[in-house]
Amino acid sequence: MTDLNAVLAAAAADFDNSLERLFRLVRIPSVSTDPAHAADCETAAKAIVADLKQLGFKAEARKTKGRPMVVAHYTPKQARPGTPHFLFYGHYDVQPADPLELWATPPFEPVVKTEKGVARMYGRGTADDKGQFMTFVEAARAWIKATGSLPVKATFLIEGEEESGSPSLVPFLKAHAKELSCDAAFVCDTNMWDRRTPAITTRLRGLVHEEVTITGPRIDLHSGVYGGPAMSPIRVLSKVIAALHDKTGRVTIPGFYDGVAELPKATRKQWQSLDFSEARFLREVGLKLPAGEKGRSVLEQVWARPTAEVNGVWGGYTGAGTKTVLPSQAHAKFTFRLVGRQKPEKVLKAFQRFVKGLIPKDCKVTFSGRGGGSPATEIAEDNPIIAKSAKALKDEFRREAVLMGSGGSIPICRSFKDILGMDSILVGFGQNDDAIHSPNEKYDVESFRRGIRSWVRIMGEFGA
Ligand code: BES
Ligand code: MN
Repeated sequence: MTDLNAVLAAAAADFDNSLERLFRLVRIPSVSTDPAHAADCETAAKAIVADLKQLGFKAEARKTKGRPMVVAHYTPKQARPGTPHFLFYGHYDVQPADPLELWATPPFEPVVKTEKGVARMYGRGTADDKGQFMTFVEAARAWIKATGSLPVKATFLIEGEEESGSPSLVPFLKAHAKELSCDAAFVCDTNMWDRRTPAITTRLRGLVHEEVTITGPRIDLHSGVYGGPAMSPIRVLSKVIAALHDKTGRVTIPGFYDGVAELPKATRKQWQSLDFSEARFLREVGLKLPAGEKGRSVLEQVWARPTAEVNGVWGGYTGAGTKTVLPSQAHAKFTFRLVGRQKPEKVLKAFQRFVKGLIPKDCKVTFSGRGGGSPATEIAEDNPIIAKSAKALKDEFRREAVLMGSGGSIPICRSFKDILGMDSILVGFGQNDDAIHSPNEKYDVESFRRGIRSWVRIMGEFGA
């Protein structure tokens, strides 16, 4: 048996235990955004460290101002000066499970259910990102079990704040640049093209947040006594929201599209050749009509165009029954997905100017977003590491890997490039219907199994 086949066999023989190890991690409610779960994040980090130590990694949960960072190194016994060194990145933190009542089974009690012949594991974090990064860990385990070592030098960086915008990551990368700089980073936090077709993601959108509060009257008012003469902040906020897009779906903020280039012809053609059904994409979420910029395909709208979204809006009385109130304040949370060379700070400034222009003289607006944000990431498709990874994926799936975009954001990819000079190779095994960030998040058991096998092959591809 060749090394590779022996390693794949070891992964297969141990697969039930791999699942159990993943479930142990999913049972820890490591929600990063909620301080009430800080101890759970620590427990999760420690569990991963213990597991990696057992495999022979030098592993530690490093303190940060926020959640601990798991850093682990493995130097193969047969390492030579030319042995490649890769960073493997994932995140152990998860999104809050709310709304709880919409879960069919409790979010932190993972179960496998077989539906229409497809085995799926349900639980918060099964897909985003515990099931995904555990494919690295289990692939490493199989290599070490079958051959006594890994074929490449490996550094694992599993962070605990990705779902909160990774506030500790940039300072951490800067402080440990030497330790963390590798030939490239592999990131397992994206999707396959479809159930049968692997993918490498080469574009991610950037992201920036803002929160707006509009204040009208000094206090909440009786809507009979003051209704009419008193301006309602909810009315003002609604105007702002309604003004964000024109009737072709284009964002109206002046300067918003600065740095957004049209797609190269060849890319547009490649995307047109992909087997993608816009109707099915929308049907799966109960919709029919694309709402993005008219004249652009859905793939272009998601992968290559920026957006302005309202994530939440509140104000006034929203409890049971009625209340004749004219509220003092109205609030909304916004996010902007960025592409090309759009700069987060510039987009924020342009948005603030735009909002201020729509506020009547005796209302007030304040902005309380935390700033920051990250620009889009694009990875050159002729990168030789992409070619080798694509070959390994083809060996596993017997289908050519699709080079695709993603509408989501993984801000660290930009930081890896800007701070450590490293490209990110994004290979993930999620499916579009995994319901990440939603109730009933799931990960296909096949995603996990073939994800592990794929990393076994990718690691092998770069070994001697
Ligand atoms: N794994 C996702 C990003 C993603 C989703 C990539 C689907 C490809 C397909 C990641 O964990 C995530 O959700 N990122 C956040 C950004 C973060 C700063 C909160 C996002 O995209 O909203
Ligand atoms: Mn993720």
